[in-house]
This record gives sequence, structure tokens and C-alpha cells, in this order.
Amino acid sequence: MDVKLKNLILIGFMGTGKTIVAKALAQELQWNFIDCDQKIIKKTDLEISEIFDQEGEIFFRKLEASVLAEILQERDQIIATGGGIVCQERARQLLLAAQADHNLIIWLQASPKVILKRTQGSQKRPLLNVAEPLQEIEKLLKIRQQWYADLANFSVDTSDLTVGQVVAKILNLLSCGGKH
Ligand code: S3P
Repeated sequence: MDVKLKNLILIGFMGTGKTIVAKALAQELQWNFIDCDQKIIKKTDLEISEIFDQEGEIFFRKLEASVLAEILQERDQIIATGGGIVCQERARQLLLAAQADHNLIIWLQASPKVILKRTQGSQKRPLLNVAEPLQEIEKLLKIRQQWYADLANFSVDTSDLTVGQVVAKILNLLSCGGKH
């Protein structure tokens, strides 16, 4: 592993396993687990769906970028970002700057059907609370795919993997120092 590695940042769509994988990686590496959404909830004392309802998505995205900036001040963290963090220019710039400064960005992917299965009934994904969630997932993925790809050092498709298998793949990538 890069001895100077500051943080490991997981990006990717909702339901690709960012939070659960980040927790497991943090335990494995004895680093701090940080979840951007949880930080936002703590800061606002509101649930994610309440922020979307009361303040709207643009407000949420600004908050998300500020919280990311704060988190990136620290090191030795496994950071689970929200799936839409790449939608905002400021957050993308922060991620790019972090990448240039010894932070590694890993993109977790999954097929739309797997994403649907994993996100059904979730209270923290107001964007998928629509009549046709599969279509919405496909639409949002199309919009975001390139951003994830541009920002990531490498990616892992979690569709058919257990959490343990994803963690093992990432640890292997870290020890090889691989790109994509
Ligand atoms: C969002 C993803 C969610 C949460 C919010 C918006 C998105 O986080 O930040 O519902 O736009 O993709 P997860 O990716 O952890 O589900």
C-alpha cells in the first residue's frame, strides 16, 4: 500500500455497497469509518429524505460538498460518499484535488437490477421513491457514469460479490497499487 495514502474514498451509485464495504475495510485496516450522509444527518438533525423534502436537492448537494471538504481535512479514513456526490462541480473538484494528494478513489458498481433490489424500501433514497424506480436508476446512472469513471482510480463491480469478496479485491488492489 502507498505509505503516504491519506484516505480511501468510495464513490458509486446508491446500493453498490459503499457504506457496508467502507465499514468492513475500516475494520480491516484499523482506520476510521466516515459516512458523508451520516455526517449530514448529524449536522442538520434531519433525515436525508426530510432535507430533500424541506430544502430540496440543490441545498443537499451544497451541504454534501461542504461536509466532504471537512472530512478531507483528516486522514486515515475510509470514506463512504453519497451516490450523488459526483453531481456537483465543487464536490468533483474536491475529489480530484484529494486524488492528487494521496487519496485513493474507488468506484463501486452494480447492475441496475441489483441496485433496485438493494435499495427497495429505503428511507434514505428519496430520488428512487418514484413509480418506476428501475427506469430512474437507469436514467441517473447514464447521467453519472462518466463522472464516476473520470474520478476513480479503479472500480469494482459488486453485483455478484459478497462484502468480504469486495473487501478482499480492494485490499488486493491496494497492495498492488493498481489503477483501474
Ligand atoms: C443519493 C444517494 C444517497 C443519499 C441521497 C442521494 C444520490 O446515498 O446521499 O439519497 O443522489 O445518489 P447512498 O449512495 O449512500 O445511498
